[in-house]
Amino acid sequence: MTKNTVPDQLPRCVPCRLAAIGAVVLLSAGGFAYTAGWLTPQRLSAPRIVNTLQAVAGQPHPGYRRNHAKGLCVEGYFDSNGQGERVSRAVVFAPGRTPVTGRFAVPGGNPSAPDTSSPVRSLALLFQLKDGEQWRTGMNSTPVFAVHTPEQFYQQLLAATPDPATGKPDPARLKAFYAANPETQPFQTWVKAHPPSSSLANAAYYGINAFRFTNQAGDTRAVRWAMVPETPYAPITDAQKAEKNFLAADLDERLQSGPLRWHLILTVAHPGDPTDDATLQWPSDRENIDAGTLVIERSTSQENGACRDINFDPTIVPAGIAPSDDPLLAARSAAYALSFKRRTREETLHPEVHQTPTTHGERS
Ligand code: HEM
Repeated sequence: MTKNTVPDQLPRCVPCRLAAIGAVVLLSAGGFAYTAGWLTPQRLSAPRIVNTLQAVAGQPHPGYRRNHAKGLCVEGYFDSNGQGERVSRAVVFAPGRTPVTGRFAVPGGNPSAPDTSSPVRSLALLFQLKDGEQWRTGMNSTPVFAVHTPEQFYQQLLAATPDPATGKPDPARLKAFYAANPETQPFQTWVKAHPPSSSLANAAYYGINAFRFTNQAGDTRAVRWAMVPETPYAPITDAQKAEKNFLAADLDERLQSGPLRWHLILTVAHPGDPTDDATLQWPSDRENIDAGTLVIERSTSQENGACRDINFDPTIVPAGIAPSDDPLLAARSAAYALSFKRRTREETLHPEVHQTPTTHGERS
């Protein structure tokens, strides 16, 4: 073969080459447009969910999470007692200490909402494992979730979007949503029977979604987890109901007297227990493993704390833990990523959005 034969073998049709390049560019643009939901406005996508979360919140709140916007950062560690190794080979369950960065919050898209705006509190955690892996989880103070599917989550948001005439959700629309979706019943029943806690420190926090745990022997079981407080539960008081920011102030006061502790309880499913439905609890006789103690030592405002720029995506798990077939998990991952992208972009373009901490430690 001579040097000159190589160019002779390439196609000479310049318009064909341009058309091929154009086709590649169009395909890529089409891919982006599809992913962004522009070609299929009826498809349930992360932008549709996050835009609706923003609509429910009313006013825009640049730089803040699109859900669970009101919160504060905490730091501490997890002391594993080694019991979790029975179900998972994740390094976090080996006996020893793992540093933790966390965030307490209240659901909703308004970072200045009163603490009483929701009966639910939340705790999100990032465990920094010593082998470099991370375990991230977002937990709520209810053992079940209100809805089974991402579509129902979206329909619930639509029903809760404020009516422009009154600035408030239309109670008839919400009632119609609950009547049409009986899966929401266990959540409503649980909330009615359990008044909100008087403190972030005396609530239990549940991972709710099922995960798949695999141990060193290769055995895989479905597991749910909860952080159960050492501080005894007490219901919200009448005086607290009149205060806007009592949760952060109360946590600060308690931390001044020493660290706060929760036990990580792993609940192991029996074969056949539902893993794809967060509205259903497993039977109460399932095995519970106390895997160790979460110790929270410090709190800071979310505007300046280490949790601010963390996306507590529940599908970020170490080897030995894997997501289940619960359809909420993938929807959560996509929505959290978009919320994170929007809020971190806003804080980069407008650093002033975080100059005045909204809630931390104030009682009024
Ligand atoms: C389809 C269902 C769900 C959607 C679309 C959704 C959406 C969101 C979004 C967009 C955020 C803000 C994320 C960020 O900016 O970092 C968020 C936060 C949060 N969600 Fe969900 N969520 C869903 C289900 C759940 C469930 C089942 C739980 C409880 C197990 C949960 C617990 C939390 C917690 C704890 C946070 C706050 C995390 C933090 O403090 O940064 N969510 N959610």
